[in-house]
Amino acid sequence: MGKRTEVIICLGSSCFARGNKATLKAIIKFLDDHGLKDKVNFHGGHCLGSCAEGPNISINGKQYNGFDENSVVDILINELL
Ligand code: FES
Repeated sequence: MGKRTEVIICLGSSCFARGNKATLKAIIKFLDDHGLKDKVNFHGGHCLGSCAEGPNISINGKQYNGFDENSVVDILINELL
């Protein structure tokens, strides 16, 4: 039984202002398009503590930053497909 991948999008005010509002939609669409909703535990989180590098997401505890709603797709492809 594999452990589900955990994806956390930072919805703290800094990351939200830096683009995670649009990235949230992009991630939901990606999970939908690739049938990953049952395999990925995706949820929002509070400030991940790296606002200056934001926007941030965390995938199985590894932080990614500085993406936008387009380039986040490359991260998702690498981590989830
Ligand atoms: S608001 Fe996202 S790391 Fe602080």
